[in-house]
Amino acid sequence: MSGARAQSLLWRQLYAVTACLQAALPQYGAIGREFQRFSIGKNGVAFARIGEMTKSLLIVAHAPSDNTRALLDAVRTGAEEASAGSVRVSVLSPFDAGPDAVRASDAIILGTTENLGYMSGALKDFFDRTYYPCLEETQGLPYALFVRAGHDGTGTCRAIESITTGLRWRAVQEPLVCRGSFAPEFIEKCRDLGAGMAAGLEAGIF
Ligand SMILES: Cc1cc2nc3c(=O)[nH]c(=O)nc-3n(C[C@H](O)[C@H](O)[C@H](O)COP(=O)(O)O)c2cc1C
Repeated sequence: MSGARAQSLLWRQLYAVTACLQAALPQYGAIGREFQRFSIGKNGVAFARIGEMTKSLLIVAHAPSDNTRALLDAVRTGAEEASAGSVRVSVLSPFDAGPDAVRASDAIILGTTENLGYMSGALKDFFDRTYYPCLEETQGLPYALFVRAGHDGTGTCRAIESITTGLRWRAVQEPLVCRGSFAPEFIEKCRDLGAGMAAGLEAGIF
């Protein structure tokens, strides 16, 4: 028997054994569901977690100042900590984000400063370029929003809500507006926002 055929037979036998074990032993079922991918090498059989890195969380944020950058870093850190490696977290400037990145994501976090009562031009440009290409394919996309505003933030939230309503994206958290003089608690709130999104994705809540 050729090496390839022997390996293929071994694979089928391993799947069959796994299926039998899952049916027979409830405690193995939990393990088996997680470790259903084998690879057979010289040193034996390696098992890979089937659910590993299967969800994608995209953060699209305009962070033109040190304070806003700190908020963005906190969102990313919170998401990465909560995902424990099973949610892929990526961060893009609105200028670098396009329809492909949005369509490839399972959830999105938007971030912007408020300028002249509205979202940043950068985030608006992102929406201008992605709205129609994404309209049909991203309905229901879970999203969250954080805004850094010197004194207000409502115009930005209203504008983004209007666009995301058109896209039929789903707000899964209240918008976080970090308003007024910069405060350390903003960092904590941004971290929580990122963690909430990653944890929700990981748990399959969204
Ligand atoms: C041109 C300009 C317009 C702004 N307009 C607003 C505004 O309409 N509402 C608001 O809350 N903050 C406004 N701000 C303040 C910014 O939101 C704030 O400077 C930005 O979020 C960065 O925050 P930081 O100074 O803590 O880094 C404006 C800032 C600039 C430079």
